[in-house]
Amino acid sequence: MAKITVDGKTIECKDKTNILQACLDAGIEKPYYCYHPGLSVVASCRICLCEVEGVPKLVPSCQTAVRDGMVVHFNSTKAIANQKQVMEYLLINHPLDCPVCDQAGECLLQDYSYEYGRSQSRFEEDKAKKPKKDVGDHVLLYSDRCIMCTRCVRFTREVSGGAELMVEGRGHREEIDIFPGKPLNNKLSGNVVDLCPVGALLDKDFLFQQRVWLLKRTPSISPADAGGENIYLEWNEGKVYRIKPRFNGEVNKWWISDDTRYSYKVLNDERRLRGAMKKELGALTACGMNDAVASAVAGLQDAVGKNGAGSLYAVFSPMMACEEAFLLGRMIRSLDPQATLVLGPIPRTEDEVFKHYITGAETYRIQGEKVPNRRGVERVMQMLGGPMMAWDSFCRGDCRAQSGWIVGGYHSNWLGAEMP
Ligand code: SF4
Ligand code: FES
Repeated sequence: MAKITVDGKTIECKDKTNILQACLDAGIEKPYYCYHPGLSVVASCRICLCEVEGVPKLVPSCQTAVRDGMVVHFNSTKAIANQKQVMEYLLINHPLDCPVCDQAGECLLQDYSYEYGRSQSRFEEDKAKKPKKDVGDHVLLYSDRCIMCTRCVRFTREVSGGAELMVEGRGHREEIDIFPGKPLNNKLSGNVVDLCPVGALLDKDFLFQQRVWLLKRTPSISPADAGGENIYLEWNEGKVYRIKPRFNGEVNKWWISDDTRYSYKVLNDERRLRGAMKKELGALTACGMNDAVASAVAGLQDAVGKNGAGSLYAVFSPMMACEEAFLLGRMIRSLDPQATLVLGPIPRTEDEVFKHYITGAETYRIQGEKVPNRRGVERVMQMLGGPMMAWDSFCRGDCRAQSGWIVGGYHSNWLGAEMP
C-alpha cells in the first residue's frame, strides 16, 4: 500500500489508484468534473491538476497513478492559478440561471465557483447561446449549461452501450447531441442525469418539482425487480419526488434502471389504498387500522370455529419483506395450525443485458423477475412448513380453505382473470 502526502497530510492509498481517487477515498475533497470512478478517464476538464514534487508541469490527478512517497500539492500557487483559470473559462459561456436550475444546490460548478472561482466575471462579450434539446423520453438537455465533461457520452458507450450521445462541433460551438433518429431511450437513460455535474441533463419528471435542499433522503432497496438495486428515496412533506442510486459495488455500482428510478410514481398514485377500509352493507368505508385488523381476525376465528382446522389460507406477496412474511405466517398459523400458505404471482420478463459498445463485455443487467423478494418470502414459507399450495392451483380453486388473508402490494394490477 503506497503512502503519499497531499497538502501536508500523509494518506495510505490502494495500489494502482490515481491521486484524485486516493484523496476522495481518504475523505479529502478535491475538485473534479470529468472524472467518474465508473467510467474511463479522459482528463479533459483540467480542474483537478495538481503539482507533484519533482515533476515540472502540473499533472491531472485523475490520470496520475500514486507512487509511494509522492508529495502532492493542490494548494500551491500554480495549482490554485489553474483552478481559477479553469473556473473562469467554464463560466464564460455558462448562463447565470442558478435560481431556476434544478441542479442548484447539488451542482459541482456552483460549489467550485464558490470554492475555487473568482467573484467577478471579466468577460464582456455576449455568451454563446445554445438550444434546449429533447434527447429522450425522460431526459432534457440544456446545452448552454453543459461544460463538456463527456461523462454522459462515455456512459452511453461504456455502460448502457447504445452510444446514443455524442459530441458535435468544435471549440465553443461544441455541443452534446443525439444521433439523428436515435433518441436516448434505453432503460438506463436516467443515469446520465445523475452523472451530469451541472444542470445540463435534466430529468423531465423532476423538472421544477422541488428545490433539492428541501429533500430528505431515506436509504432503501428497489422494489422494481429482483436485482436489489440500492437507492435513496428523496422526499419532502410526505411525498416522494425522486429516486437516486446509492452506491453498492457488489450490486448496482453507481447506477439504477429507469424501472427503479420511476417506481416512486405508484406511491403517489391517486388510486393507491392509503388506509384500512371495511365493507359494510356492500359499501367500503374507511376505518382505523386496529379496527380493520380486529375485524379480520374475528372473521378468521369464526371461520375456523365453523369449519375446523385447515379452513384458512394466507397469500404471501413477493413484494413483502421477510419480516412481514414471517409475521403473516405466524399470525395465520396461530389461528389455524393447518392453514395453507400460498405465494402470489411472480411477474417475469427476459433479463435485459447491457454491454460495452466496443468490448461487448456485460456491464449491467436488469433482472426479468419484476418483484423484489420472491426468494426471501419463499424461504420464510419453507421455514414455516405445513400445507402449501402453488398460485396456479390456488387460482384453479384447489384450495379447500375458503377464508384467508391476502397480501398484494404489486406495482400493477395483479388480480387477473385467473383469480377465483
Ligand atoms: S451534458 Fe452534462 S454530463 Fe454531458 S458533457 Fe455536458 S456537463 Fe458533462
Ligand atoms: S477530473 Fe481530472 S481532468 Fe477532469
